[in-house]
Amino acid sequence: MPDTATHRIFNFSAGPCTLPLPVLERARDELVDYGGTGMSLIEMSHRSMPVVSVFDEAEALMREALSVPASHHILFIAGGATFQFAMTAVNLLHGGKTADFTHSGAWAKKAIADARKVGRVNLVFDGTDANYTTLPDPAGVACSDDAVYLHLTSNETIGGVQWKAFPRVGRPIVADMSSDILSRPLPFEQFGLIYAGAQKNIGPAGVAVVILREDVLAQCPGDLPGYLNYAGHVEGQSMLNTPPVFQVYMIKLVLEWLKEQGGVAWAQEAAARRSEAVYDAIARHADFYRCPVDERCRSSMNVVFRLPDEDLEARFIREAEAAGMSGLKGHRSVGGCRASLYNAMPLEGAEALASFMDRFATTHG
Ligand SMILES: Cc1ncc(COP(=O)(O)O)c(C=O)c1O
Repeated sequence: MPDTATHRIFNFSAGPCTLPLPVLERARDELVDYGGTGMSLIEMSHRSMPVVSVFDEAEALMREALSVPASHHILFIAGGATFQFAMTAVNLLHGGKTADFTHSGAWAKKAIADARKVGRVNLVFDGTDANYTTLPDPAGVACSDDAVYLHLTSNETIGGVQWKAFPRVGRPIVADMSSDILSRPLPFEQFGLIYAGAQKNIGPAGVAVVILREDVLAQCPGDLPGYLNYAGHVEGQSMLNTPPVFQVYMIKLVLEWLKEQGGVAWAQEAAARRSEAVYDAIARHADFYRCPVDERCRSSMNVVFRLPDEDLEARFIREAEAAGMSGLKGHRSVGGCRASLYNAMPLEGAEALASFMDRFATTHG
């Protein structure tokens, strides 16, 4: 049941999305007077001890949550994942280098478009003809000889496809993990650079977490304009300029909450149970709901599904909203329905949706 003391509904939005209630409550309680200092954290100098501690703790908690090895730096960079489409390209493809990309959907497409403005892009997989409903077998992905990295989008938030394992291609993978980071353990030895906009499993929008391997950093040109230069962010310990303090503070709170729940191992198990509840409801009413995504790569974070026609979809979304479940409309570019089930979505939310889907299919099927 939605929380009744505070008015909260089940929010299935794709991001910004639901955040853990204890995190929001703590942020509320600490906003005006942070730790007895008589001022808010967002009123303080970013060089002051409380702010520096928040950044240090957020980084340490992220390292612990994902078991990030010492070979990788962890950065918080303003501008979200979209800025990372450009920043990865200017740092890694400078001088017209080549990268291999997997074109898995709407988000990969944006990363590819930016990379093409800087270097050469070679597509080793193109899901366009399949309407972005599938991904290649990781074992079958082979890189071109001159590719300096392979880019992939670990989870396509709009299309609902997710890599369940990652290719081993003998060169660094650069991955956009905006919509599934912190939902499973990661094989860091395969990743040269991971970036993720925060507004799904990490915290509020406007900042990206970047996890960058030392040898990849060493290849970035030193003469890029300041803010575009990863080395400057490493040197400045994510405080190259006045940083997004509130966002990083919220990230710290989310990571503390995640740790209390049982960390990424808990998140992985919880994601499987939530998404199974919804995929099972789709399967129970296979003549009414349809998930277009290849079963091998169905996302545990964004479950996309169609109903028999658009009128029924509109009615489904309207009636779900009236029953306390919002954000179920598919992305405007593809239509249909989408349930985003990030870490902060309780299992009861997914179960409530599954029951609603049962009732709706029985009534309208
Ligand atoms: C997979 C993926 N990549 C990139 C983005 C863009 O993120 P941002 O809005 O932080 O630039 C999104 C959207 O939230 C996304 O879902």
